[in-house]
Amino acid sequence: MAEAKSDKGFKAAVTVAITGASGAQYGLRLIEALVAAEHEVWVMVSKAAHLVIATETDRELPARPERLAQALTERSAAAPGQIRCFGREDWMAPVASGSGASSAMVICPCSTGTLSAVATGASNNLIERAADVALKERRNLILVPRETPLSAIHLEHMLALSRLGAVILPAAPGFYHRPQGIDDLIDFIVARILNQLRIDHRLMPRWGEPQGEESDGENA
Ligand SMILES: Cc1cc2nc3c(=O)[nH]c(=O)nc-3n(C[C@H](O)[C@H](O)[C@H](O)COP(=O)(O)O)c2cc1C
Repeated sequence: MAEAKSDKGFKAAVTVAITGASGAQYGLRLIEALVAAEHEVWVMVSKAAHLVIATETDRELPARPERLAQALTERSAAAPGQIRCFGREDWMAPVASGSGASSAMVICPCSTGTLSAVATGASNNLIERAADVALKERRNLILVPRETPLSAIHLEHMLALSRLGAVILPAAPGFYHRPQGIDDLIDFIVARILNQLRIDHRLMPRWGEPQGEESDGENA
């Protein structure tokens, strides 16, 4: 059955928070994939994430939410109004309350700092508060941490969150799909996130599905 669309013509809003761990590209690609899947996308980008994006990519993103939404809309070829962005202390944003939150939230990538804040319910900024809301409302919450090695603090926070129902999905791409470049590694993780959200995609075949026309059939 086709998923219902809102009055604005989009499928259920998914919240994407990009925090200051390495791998901002995962989050940016996830936004593109959600837009392509016709979902409304609510975005928050931490201050540290802006620095990481400027360090790791060829572009800087504007800090102000309206300008950020405009930049992400252009970057993702989104429809007008499909991407909404919220600031660090925008406590009136829908993600700040259980009555207004989106269907799911993904923190991608997730810094160990934000991981710790979510595990302890700190709610010191809108990203942490939105994750707290997702937990208390028993909504899908996916965290994509990127750190290595992991300390006992990180591991304990991940275990606590997993026991609360959050999904810990480390940014640890596999290599069995024979990646041809960085984009394939990024898509590996984004495909796993979309699988968790039960959103159809064509980024990567699921395990056991045909590999497509490029397959040389050596495993047949
Ligand atoms: C270029 C760069 C790369 C970083 N990589 C990581 C990382 O991979 N994992 C991590 O947990 N923190 C990383 N950090 C540190 C976080 O950005 C820092 O702890 C920050 O306070 C996180 O804040 P946030 O959670 O509000 O985004 C990195 C920082 C910079 C500048």
